[in-house]
Amino acid sequence: MVTIAVDGPSGSGKSSVSKAVAGRLGLAYLDTGAMYRAATLWCVRTDVALDDADAVARAVREMPLEMGVDPAAPGVVLDGDDVAAAIRTTEVSSAVSQVATNLEVRAEMKRRQRAVIDAENTDGFSGGRGIVAEGRDITTVVAPDADARVLLTASEEARLRRRSLEVHGAADAAAVDATRDQVLRRDRDDSTVSQFLTAADGVVTVDSSELDLDQTVAAVLSVVDR
Ligand code: CDP
Repeated sequence: MVTIAVDGPSGSGKSSVSKAVAGRLGLAYLDTGAMYRAATLWCVRTDVALDDADAVARAVREMPLEMGVDPAAPGVVLDGDDVAAAIRTTEVSSAVSQVATNLEVRAEMKRRQRAVIDAENTDGFSGGRGIVAEGRDITTVVAPDADARVLLTASEEARLRRRSLEVHGAADAAAVDATRDQVLRRDRDDSTVSQFLTAADGVVTVDSSELDLDQTVAAVLSVVDR
């Protein structure tokens, strides 16, 4: 049984890489960013004002969220509804930092994320294999005890190009410019929770700027083998 923690900023490739690593090693996979996105969507859908910190914290504690942990098809089910696509809209992306910087929300998320990680590291009906968990505070706050901890970085140029391809399906100058505004604003809005940009003690940095997906996966697997 093993826990692998992967943190990184937008466009570092952490989701694709983490899913591929989990697939290769036969492990479960947890996308913690999807949980913050689902929390944001839940507040929007239940008419909770995002600037009311107490109401947001209360709503998130009661949120009926089920996270799928199959790296080939990691579902996100909110109140019985598959929201995998709905949590990726611009509306959610531009509001998520407001929810994610709420400390009570973070405490609740940490509790839920730990429960998933612990279940996958326990012999039993669904667990027992281990897990790759990815996000922004997994190596430091959620699973500082992980067997392998990786900070995935990439140059700003590489991150913007990847994000632009993902969101706009293109990486020409106009698409990259639109992406730059969104990504840099979210990086700034996240900055109180994102001290992840420098690796904590014992966390190995993998710079993917010049690597393709397979090469990055190989680099992360070599950290796991250490
Ligand atoms: O789209 P991107 O890969 O940048 O981000 P994501 O992994 O989907 O996470 C979306 C947002 O959730 C981030 O911008 C943070 O506000 C928040 N987040 C967090 O605060 N802590 C985590 N462990 C993961 C995500």
